[in-house]
Amino acid sequence: MTDHFFKKVVSELKEATENNDHPFRYFTLGTTGITKTPRLRTVVLREVSDELKFTIYTDKRSRKVTHIKEHNEVCLLFYKHDELLQLKIEGIAYLEEDKEKIARVWKSISEKSRKDYITSKEPGTKIDNPDNVEYLENTNHFTIMYIKAKKLEYLQLKRPNHIRLQFNRESTKDWQSSFMVP
Ligand SMILES: Cc1cc2nc3c(=O)[nH]c(=O)nc-3n(C[C@H](O)[C@H](O)[C@H](O)COP(=O)(O)O)c2cc1C
Repeated sequence: MTDHFFKKVVSELKEATENNDHPFRYFTLGTTGITKTPRLRTVVLREVSDELKFTIYTDKRSRKVTHIKEHNEVCLLFYKHDELLQLKIEGIAYLEEDKEKIARVWKSISEKSRKDYITSKEPGTKIDNPDNVEYLENTNHFTIMYIKAKKLEYLQLKRPNHIRLQFNRESTKDWQSSFMVP
């Protein structure tokens, strides 16, 4: 009975990787690092697999990368306003290690978008004027981050009954699901 919801989640997420207007295209990634203070930021969903492995692109000097190296457990939050549908995902984050794969993906990124990964100074460095950002010419700090989901919570607000379900997966085993009191 819960299969339908899981399939809907995967299908909507996949659609968001191809459609910039889909509300799941942008999601909130929460990390903690060693300080235990949660840090949230919006990122773009680049890919998602049937097993709920998420892919994002980032700068390897960014705080989120430092955080996941310190503590690899992260949370993702997606929200689809027209259906009042929220997805909360807990997972394990890690970076792509295959340099050739990173180089291949880098080649596919447009010149305009590459600027996000080639600032001379580290992201977050203080500057006097937003127009005074310098860019590197022959090198980049692009990397690929993956998040492997181990828990998914689906919540849809609707009348007469809200729908709340949890899907859990231990290691490579199948997803276990149950409805919950909303
Ligand atoms: C609409 C939007 C999309 C964004 N997409 C990404 C992204 O895909 N990857 C990324 O690293 N940062 C992205 N950012 C910037 C992050 O939200 C964040 O400010 C930046 O990565 C620095 O975060 P950190 O210091 O916590 O690592 C995006 C911001 C906005 C507003």
